[in-house]
Amino acid sequence: MKRPDLRKQLSLPVLFVAVFGLAFYVLVYFAPEAPPAAAPDERRLAFTAYEWARTLVSVALWISAAFVVVRALNELIFLIFRKRKGYEAPSLMRDIFSLAAYVTAVAVILKLHFANLSFGALLSGSALLGIILGLALQDTLGNLFAGISLQADKPFQVGDVIAVGGATGVVESVTWRAVKIKTFQNHIILLGNSQIAKEHIEVCPRGNANARIVFFNAVYTDSPVKVIHVVREAVRDCENVLRYMTPVVRIRGMGADGVDYEVKYWLSDYARYNDTDALVRQRIWYAFRRAGLNFAYPTQTLYLQRSAGGGAGNFDEISERLSAVDIFSPLSAGELKALAENTSSRVFAPGETILRAGDSGASMFVVHGGTVDVRVEQNGQAHTVNTLREGDFFGEMALFTGEPRTADVIAVEETEVLEIGHAAMKRLFDTNPDLVESLSHVIAERRAGLSARVEQAPDEQHESAGLIAAVRRFFGFD
Ligand code: CMP
Repeated sequence: MKRPDLRKQLSLPVLFVAVFGLAFYVLVYFAPEAPPAAAPDERRLAFTAYEWARTLVSVALWISAAFVVVRALNELIFLIFRKRKGYEAPSLMRDIFSLAAYVTAVAVILKLHFANLSFGALLSGSALLGIILGLALQDTLGNLFAGISLQADKPFQVGDVIAVGGATGVVESVTWRAVKIKTFQNHIILLGNSQIAKEHIEVCPRGNANARIVFFNAVYTDSPVKVIHVVREAVRDCENVLRYMTPVVRIRGMGADGVDYEVKYWLSDYARYNDTDALVRQRIWYAFRRAGLNFAYPTQTLYLQRSAGGGAGNFDEISERLSAVDIFSPLSAGELKALAENTSSRVFAPGETILRAGDSGASMFVVHGGTVDVRVEQNGQAHTVNTLREGDFFGEMALFTGEPRTADVIAVEETEVLEIGHAAMKRLFDTNPDLVESLSHVIAERRAGLSARVEQAPDEQHESAGLIAAVRRFFGFD
């Protein structure tokens, strides 16, 4: 909850200070002379009335000034608190501070103006009133004291996610009466402090590595080692999943329809766990599809289905796509068809990493649908050096040289790529050895163009010759 700003808080007390200050000035300026003892009663009465008016205006002036000082002090002290602790002080703490300061200031002002005033007598005289008020304000006082003990105990702070009394949400404020929670449906729930003090509270502190568990299953024929690996890699890349905590994937049980798994992952911002759970499930679906894994679902019918992430189906469409790729332009129609039959289609979700710099890799990819970003790290920051679209290719450097991947390649939208492996290319080279040279030239040309964007352009001739030798070596021709 946002507190009103200092200017608004101070405007009324400052106005009072001005009004009472002016009144006090006028009273002092036009002060009547003190009447002698022998003066008539009316004159003495009028002077006593004047003295009372001056005292009351003075009390009002000092109390208004005390309000200004207490509010300004409150602001200053809790500004220092925020700077030191890094979070806003609970409003209950601020209110208690202000209340204590006001009561002390008013007591001091009254004592200074009315020397005969006895607080002891005042307190004992009001004992009965206290009992009556105590009974009437039982719940309110219960909330106040429960609020004070909550502050002392500090089980949670503003910004933490808590689950209490059947409600789950982010703590918005803790006041002397209640804790305000904003649920994930954007509703506000107010829970009385005394009720909270009696409940079981689950706290997920902000800034803590809070974990979530998402369940899924797979058919019995899918290898658990493969399932665990595929899901762990898919989940660790999700947005809002802590990078430094590797997700844990494990088998929960052997169900009637398949193997039940769970994936435990840690979040950067726990307040967004609903979206992150959903993203994790989405990524698992895509990863399953690519890896040819299958979710288990109850069925009593025997079904035959082509494996989801397996070989690409429509060869004509794929041949057409490959024929539009410039490095394959020297290939004949027959060679293109042979190549099409040996490609595999892979689908990636938006934001998924297709290739990671530094990984080893022995296949290249042609973008069949969608868009990918090529990113390299420069001075610890990721830079997009190129965006590739349908008909573009990537991953050729590792395929043709056997060197590690030179960049990250990330799907910008849902992207389908055609994967061409080492064996398929080797088969092509076996039937047409001239291809090594022509392909190497095309790639060298492209590499020269690409590296000009990142660093200095290499010597194209020299690059091409070196590349041909590297490719020949890698494919075992020399
Ligand atoms: P490879 O090194 O196997 O894996 C990462 C791929 O990113 C790389 O092959 C190229 O296909 C591609 N790549 C690297 N740098 C660039 C660039 N500057 N522009 C376009 N693609 C690139």
